[in-house]
Amino acid sequence: MAILDIVTYPDKRLSKPSDTVTEIDDTIKTLIEDMAETMFDAPGAGLAAVQVGVNKKIIVVNTTSDEEDAENTYFALINPEIVEADGEYTSADEGCLSVPEFRATVKRFNRVKVTAQDVDGNDLELNEEGFPAVVLQHEIDHLDGTLFIDRISKLKREMYKRKVKKWMKGR
Ligand code: NI
Repeated sequence: MAILDIVTYPDKRLSKPSDTVTEIDDTIKTLIEDMAETMFDAPGAGLAAVQVGVNKKIIVVNTTSDEEDAENTYFALINPEIVEADGEYTSADEGCLSVPEFRATVKRFNRVKVTAQDVDGNDLELNEEGFPAVVLQHEIDHLDGTLFIDRISKLKREMYKRKVKKWMKGR
């Protein structure tokens, strides 16, 4: 297992839609394990393959409990797709490992139904509500090349862009 480098905004790779996974081989399985380790190390609630520079429809979701000394747990979804979504959920303080030092409130669906494959290629269907549904929406957005800052007001987004420009000048 290895901790991978996380691609950060404004890297153009983040705005490119990911390709469908057609074969779940050992390379994909190793990538998923490395993505999980990278997510736990950060730590983050989820991670999409595009965030480690791999343009494939794969996400991992952190399911580690809040209890102290809890063992790290996760699940991986291959080719996830939102097939149903309804209700409204105000996702306060949403953040992203690819958008460092920034958090914002994002309007999300409250409930989603997601279809995907697991690492063994079995078809899955997930029904989630509230925060877990937000994590799925956020990670699946990455596979479409969408970041959470694309879903906030233009004013807030410009604020972040100016901050990034300043950092890049300072390098
Ligand atoms: Ni993200």
